[in-house]
Amino acid sequence: MEYYQIEGGVPLQGEYRVKGAKNAALPILAATICKGGVHEIYDCPRIGDALILTRILEQLGAGVSWEKDCLIIDSRSLTGNAVPKELMEKLRSSVFLLGSLLARTGEATVYRPGGCKIGKRPIDIHINGLRELGFEILEDEEKVTCRGKCRGGRFHLSYPSVGATENLMMAALSGESQTILENCATEPEIIDLQGFLRSCGFGVYGAGTSRIFIEGSRGKNDSMYFIMEDRIEAATYLMAIAGTGGEGILTNIRPELLEEVLTVLVRMGVPLRKYGDRIWVKKPDDGLGRTALKSPGILMTAPYPGFPTDCQPQLLTLATKAKGLTTIREEIFDSRFTHKKDLMKMGANIEICGKNAIIKGTDVLYGRSVSARDLRGGAALVLAGLMAEGITRVEDIYHIERGYEDFPQGISQLGGLIETKNERETKEKSESIGEIAGIDFTDGSHICRAVPSCI
Ligand code: EPZ
Repeated sequence: MEYYQIEGGVPLQGEYRVKGAKNAALPILAATICKGGVHEIYDCPRIGDALILTRILEQLGAGVSWEKDCLIIDSRSLTGNAVPKELMEKLRSSVFLLGSLLARTGEATVYRPGGCKIGKRPIDIHINGLRELGFEILEDEEKVTCRGKCRGGRFHLSYPSVGATENLMMAALSGESQTILENCATEPEIIDLQGFLRSCGFGVYGAGTSRIFIEGSRGKNDSMYFIMEDRIEAATYLMAIAGTGGEGILTNIRPELLEEVLTVLVRMGVPLRKYGDRIWVKKPDDGLGRTALKSPGILMTAPYPGFPTDCQPQLLTLATKAKGLTTIREEIFDSRFTHKKDLMKMGANIEICGKNAIIKGTDVLYGRSVSARDLRGGAALVLAGLMAEGITRVEDIYHIERGYEDFPQGISQLGGLIETKNERETKEKSESIGEIAGIDFTDGSHICRAVPSCI
């Protein structure tokens, strides 16, 4: 079992180029089968979820190959329209194949999607929309089968769901009709999906607003597309630099994509400068050279352009060392404080009351052995390890690697001390040191050098 070993207390310094957006890449990968063609996709992040999605595309008969930084998907000949259960359950974005398979073949069978365990995450808005647009729906406990053509017309989403908006955009490409989706999510990644669909010759308009207009399926075949930058990855690195008292520049990131995050960081006393597609960030200083984060007060997550729920766990970590009392209200998902226990183990002071996390800033976090439970909660524990004194071990890192490409490499590039270790190697090394020293280290106590009682 692999884990990250982090030596905290090192200020991150330097420059980091933000990678392609996970939440733009996933719907776009699904969309490559809306029409048969050869699609060249640049800046697709090499993350767990994207690799699983390409395996699903291969199972459906598409050709997948990486040529340097270009991912080529050849979807000219599909051999099926049922998504394998064991792959479906690994990620949430497999649900997008409902829409793209309906656009291409008029039939799709998908199992209930998996993904981060951050709440119930039903797909009722997806299903209601497909039914309203004229598709026949057969569903049972474990899977959903849809068939037919989009008859067009209007559908009002009961909630601006990101995934449902994207799924229905793709399903509406089937048939010759014209469809208007209302009360859509307005996240930037939806504009990126529209951009990709247009590069395939489809008529899609209005993404980024609450009303999206989709014309029936037409369009040329091949396409070339560059995926937008990952605003959530950018926010994660900004908080890591500020939280460790460093200084750095992020490139390949338009500041307007994460305005609300930047506003909150400024409220916390973090000096920031925006230049074109770069953001400069520095440690908040108390005038005596010490890092002095201030509480941002009360903060609520909200659909774009509100504070993104995908940055809430990372901000919660930052708030554990911010002077004063911070209240974070999670309005999007019903259990997204999964890393609270581990942060408390590290010395944080957090109370959960319903949808609210109330955090009293503390001066020090201590390195501990912790476990990731989902993607952003895991990333938030890495931030905590970087901000803590001593050694932190983060286990179950597969959650983090689903959504961050080469996270340890990016942190190391900024001077952070983080290594991916393997339990077996560590154990063998401990045993050999133990044999020499005549001490049994295999209980893991050797990991934390700074505070022996930390494990
Ligand atoms: C997308 O998930 C993102 N994932 C999530 O990012 C992100 O947190 C979320 O949007 C909100 O911004 C991808 O884009 C792959 P939703 P999605 O549908 O589409 C409820 C990350 O860390 N809902 O907007 O699943 C749902 O339960 C991930 O990168 C229904 O009730 O989010 C939730 O409470 C995590 N019925 C709320 O809406 C439905 O049919 C928002 O969900 C659909 C959603």
